[in-house]
This record gives sequence, C-alpha cells and structure tokens, in this order.
Amino acid sequence: MPAVRRFESATNKKRVAILISGRGSNMRALVEAAKAPDYPAKIVGVLSNKADAEGLAFAAVEAIPTAVRSLRDYPDKAAADVAIDAVLRGWHADIVCLAGFMRLLSPGLVDRWRGRMLNIHPSLLPLHKGLHTHEQALATGAAEHGCTVHFVTPGMDEGPSILQTRVPVLPGDTPESLAARVLVAEHATYPRALAMVARGEARFER
Ligand code: GAR
Repeated sequence: MPAVRRFESATNKKRVAILISGRGSNMRALVEAAKAPDYPAKIVGVLSNKADAEGLAFAAVEAIPTAVRSLRDYPDKAAADVAIDAVLRGWHADIVCLAGFMRLLSPGLVDRWRGRMLNIHPSLLPLHKGLHTHEQALATGAAEHGCTVHFVTPGMDEGPSILQTRVPVLPGDTPESLAARVLVAEHATYPRALAMVARGEARFER
C-alpha cells in the first residue's frame, strides 16, 4: 500500500519554523533540502524581525507562510518575543531554526524552545562569537575557519554544538572571500544538522 506509506512518512516530518533578519540564504538552503521526499522536516513558516528582509520574498514565492514581528511595534523585547512565540505556536512548529536572525531572543523564549531551537554561526564556536567573524579569524592568523550549528541557549552564540564544518583560510583571503567560502559550508551544514535533530540523532543533554 504505497499511498498509505507516503502519507505516514509525510506526517512524521518535524514542522520547522525559520527566523531570519535579512538575505535568507541559509533559510533558502533549508527550504531546498526539505523538498527531498525523505528529508525528516518540512518548513511551515518564515518569520522576520525586519519587514524588508530579502528572504521573505523567496519564502512567499515558495508559498511558505511568512510573518513579521518587529521590535519597534512592541513596547519592549519581552512583548515582541511573546508575539514571536505566538506565531511559532500558531504554525505548530516542532523546531525553530535561527538563520541569520540578528537579535538576541529573551531567555524566556529561549527556555521555552530549549532543545528545539537551532542557530547557525559563521565561525568554529566557541571561537569568534558575535559580528565580523571573518575579520576576527583573519586577525588571529588562523589556518582554519568555518561554521557551527548549535542548540540555542540564552547567551549569544552559545549552546552545545550539533555540527561544525571547517574551511581553510587561504593566502590572500579577505573577509569577503573567506565569508563566501564559509557561506558555501553553511548551506551544506545547516540542512544536515537540522536533519540530525529532526531524526533525534542529536539531542540537547542537560
Ligand atoms: C550567515 O552567515 C549566518 O551564519 C550569520 O548571518 C548570516 C546570515 O546570512 N549568523 C550570525 O552571525 C548569527 N550570530 P543569510 O541571511 O544569507 O542566511
């Protein structure tokens, strides 16, 4: 009964919401990966804290529900995060992927999604937290750089690592050339890490 089996595997997919602030290329990589029939997750919504985030247009073309919850529309960060949480619950999300979501979420929201919220960061954490990671890597003279997908905890770019990919730092690299090499790695790493979490192969151990 192949039709029944197809239905069962579709319903077993984890429902994933993606949070972005801008370009959304990692979001796009996750959306493309999730098109594979055997991928263990489906993208159920894309939320941005910026109304003009480029990535929203791609999500709309893909017929993925989108939402904007901007800090400026709420009295404070806690209220904005309650609104974000309401959207995520409305989409019945099982997992939340931060993909270039460039604002720190409040501890209450992060704790609610503990073990079910992932982030990608363009460095080999715990090295080079925060912004300008490629400049930071070049300044240290490191031979290697890369990206990390990790579970989100209240601190910035903290939380247990799920998957890292290393890339070489080459002679003559600029922040831009290094960023481009890392971004290719990010697009391969995030879908693999999300699949590991969706299949229960990577778990947040307290
Ligand atoms: C990515 O390089 C991502 O790793 C980084 O922002 C970029 C977003 O690009 N995230 C962080 O620095 C989080 N601390 P994208 O919008 O094209 O995915």
